[in-house]
Amino acid sequence: MTALSADAAAALRGRFVLLGVSGGIAAYKAAALARALVTAGATVQTVLTPGATAFVGAATFAGLTGRPAHSDVLADAHEIRHVAIARAADVAVFAPATANLLAKFATGLADDLVSSAFTCLTCPVVLAPAMHTEMWQHPATQANVALLAARGARIVGPDDGPLAGGDTGLGRLADDAAILAAVAAALAPAGGDRAGALRGRRVVVTAGGTREPIDPVRYIGNRSSGKMGYALAVAAAQRGAVVDLVAAPTALPDPAGVTTHHVETALQMRDAVVALAHDADVVVKAAAVADVRPADYSPHKLRKDGGGLSAVALAPNPDILGELGASRNGAAAGRPLLVGFAAETEREEQHGRDKLQRKGLDLVVVNRVDSRDAGFDVDTNRALLLDRDGRRTDVPLTSKAALAGVVWDHVEALLTGPAD
Ligand code: PMT
Repeated sequence: MTALSADAAAALRGRFVLLGVSGGIAAYKAAALARALVTAGATVQTVLTPGATAFVGAATFAGLTGRPAHSDVLADAHEIRHVAIARAADVAVFAPATANLLAKFATGLADDLVSSAFTCLTCPVVLAPAMHTEMWQHPATQANVALLAARGARIVGPDDGPLAGGDTGLGRLADDAAILAAVAAALAPAGGDRAGALRGRRVVVTAGGTREPIDPVRYIGNRSSGKMGYALAVAAAQRGAVVDLVAAPTALPDPAGVTTHHVETALQMRDAVVALAHDADVVVKAAAVADVRPADYSPHKLRKDGGGLSAVALAPNPDILGELGASRNGAAAGRPLLVGFAAETEREEQHGRDKLQRKGLDLVVVNRVDSRDAGFDVDTNRALLLDRDGRRTDVPLTSKAALAGVVWDHVEALLTGPAD
C-alpha cells in the first residue's frame, strides 16, 4: 500500500478525482493508483482511451473505485459524459500519459472520451508521462510537455528505470507516492497545510546564463539554456505563488502567469534580484552567473592581431546569492528563504555543502553538469538537495519540470517548518 502523508490524505479526502488512463504498458499501475486515491477518501472517476482498454479492463477500475469506468464518448450520448465528468472534477490526473495523449492535449485534439474530457477541464491537471526513452526525448514530445506545463499542468516524472521489453531508461511511470503527492498539491488545500504553502507568496527565480560583453561582437557566457529556471518559475506559479523571473538571455518564450524581467549581465541581474528580494519570501537562483567580466568594455571590435583581444583584463562579478545570504547576517532560516543551485563536475556533496554554508543558504540543489542527460541545455536533470537542517534528498534522472516540483515541495516544507 502506498504511504501517504497526513497532509496529502487530508487534501484528497472527499474530492472528486478524474483519473485518465491511456494505452501504455504502465496502464496496469493506474489500477493501484485508483486504489490509493480511493483509500485516501477521494471519489475516483476513471476514463480510459481505447488503447488503455487493451492493457487493462474497465471492470478492474469499476471494481476498485465503485463507479463505472468509461471509455466510449458516444455511449449514452444524451449524458454528454465528457462535459459532465470534467465539470465534476476537483482535479484530473492522467497516468500513464502516453506520447500520443500528450500530443492530443497539446494540440486540443478531442477524438475520444479522455481527450474530449481534457478539453473541458477547468480544474488543476496532473500529467504522469510514461513511454520509451526515445519517445520521451523526441523534440515533439518535449515541446508538447513544455507547452502543457506552461499552460498550467503539473508534470510528474517520468522516472529512470526498467521499461517494457527489457529496456532500461528514462520513461518509467513515476511511483504512486509521487503522483499522489502531486495530485494533493494541485488541490492546494486551504488552512496552512504544507502542500499549498507557496500560495500567495512572492517568489523570485533566476534563469539563463549571464553575458558579459567584451566588445560589440563578443561576450563571456556559458551554456545555460534557462530551461531549469523557467521550469521552476512555471511550477511556482502553478502553486499559486506570485512569481518574478529574472532571465538572462535564453531562447525560451516568457512563461504565462509570471512576470519576466530580462537582463543580460551579472551586474544587471544583481540589481534586479536585490530590488525584488526586498519583498520576496523565496529567492531561487538557477541562473548560471559569470564569475568574471571584462574589466573594460571596448566600444570597437578588438583585433586578434595585437589589438587587445588576448589581453582582455577580467574583473570579478559580485556573488549575488552570497550578498543576499550576507544581508540576512548569514542567518539561515531568515527571509527571504534562499535556494541556490550548484553546478558541479566532481565531489558534488562536498562542494554543495560548502556553497550552502559559505553563501548562507537554506537549500542548495546540486546538479552535475558533465553528463549529456543532465545540467546544461537538456530537458532532464538529476540532483542532490542539501538543506540547512542537514537533510539530503537524491533526485534520480527526471524531467526539469518534475525536479522543479521536488524543489518546491522542499521549499514548502522549509517555509512551514518540520512535519509532525
Ligand atoms: O539553464 P539550463 O540549461 O536548464 O541549465 C541549468 C543549470 C545547469 C544552469 C542550473 O541547473 C544550475 O546549476 N544553475 C547554477 C549554475 C551556477 O552558476 O552554479 P555555481 O555553482 O557557479 O553557483 C552557485 C550559486 O550561486 C548559483 O545559484 C548561482 O546562481 C549563484 N551565483 C553564482 C555566481 C555569482 N556571481 N552569483 C551568484 O548568485
